[in-house]
Amino acid sequence: MGTKLIIDTDPGVDDAFAIALAALSDDVELLGVTTVFGNVPLSATTRNARRVLALCKRADVPVAAGAPRPLVHPHPHAARYAHGADGLSGRSAALPEPGRELEPVDAVSLLATLLEAADEPVTVAPIGPLTNIAALLAAHPGVHDKIARVVIMGGALGHGNTTAAAEFNVWSDPEAARRVLGGGEVPCVLVPMDLTYRCAVDTGWLGTLAASGPVGAALDALTPDYLDHYRKALGWDGVVLHDAVALAEAIRPGILRTETFPIEVECSFGPSRGATVVDQRRPELRADTEGSPDPTAVVVAVDTDLDDLRAFVLGRLAG
Ligand code: RIB
Ligand code: CA
Repeated sequence: MGTKLIIDTDPGVDDAFAIALAALSDDVELLGVTTVFGNVPLSATTRNARRVLALCKRADVPVAAGAPRPLVHPHPHAARYAHGADGLSGRSAALPEPGRELEPVDAVSLLATLLEAADEPVTVAPIGPLTNIAALLAAHPGVHDKIARVVIMGGALGHGNTTAAAEFNVWSDPEAARRVLGGGEVPCVLVPMDLTYRCAVDTGWLGTLAASGPVGAALDALTPDYLDHYRKALGWDGVVLHDAVALAEAIRPGILRTETFPIEVECSFGPSRGATVVDQRRPELRADTEGSPDPTAVVVAVDTDLDDLRAFVLGRLAG
């Protein structure tokens, strides 16, 4: 029945596209969605996730709310205006009412229950701050071997987007990101903003999606505030669907070309807080390579066929 998948998310416009990509893919068994603070507060990310699933007619998918704030230090960021005050360009209320009640358990409990019950390893796709995933790995060591891969949208090999050094998801909870990426407990694939930016789509792509039917039109209607932000960030009429790029890899392993690098997450309170420091030196130059596998080594997505990726996402969303 295809890829067993759980998405951890902070919708967010690009999160909405990513959730829809999974929800509308017949080769994905979407076991559940968990929510986290991030682009907007937890109450809004949870409402938005539930409504996007209702848009996709997926009342079968349970949703549980998770962390309202980072593990250790307060989240210094108010709402991310790239996504609008409600997280979906002010259009959350235009989406259908949720088709099921919010789960009575928290996100980490739902993640653990779904993983324990799975008859084969599950792909977990965090596309917001990594707080819930760090808590899961810490509190439930018994489920580590039920996780096939953690496919993460986050980090940056070059400059950041929230600060000069840091990408938003890692910046929002650097300690959580260090716990997930640096623990060596589960196979991680990091999809950094360097690649997601290169996968940006233009208004022609959005127009094709909008014309494909009611779901495509509803997704396109979520983009105005996001488009305003990315016109400034890109310098042309387009948007970066960061999270959909990560979900494309979760759904179609290998659609992104990857390399493996040691990664450290900067958790000090300086100008580089939240930076993902990726050691791209040749292995022969890295001090710690006496043949032993480096526990900080992470698979990093570095390239893809941009047109194929855009066509894959559009094809799935447009049905
Ligand atoms: O930096 C991009 C990431 O931050 C995406 O997940 C987007 O939704 C925002 O959360
Ligand atoms: Ca996100």
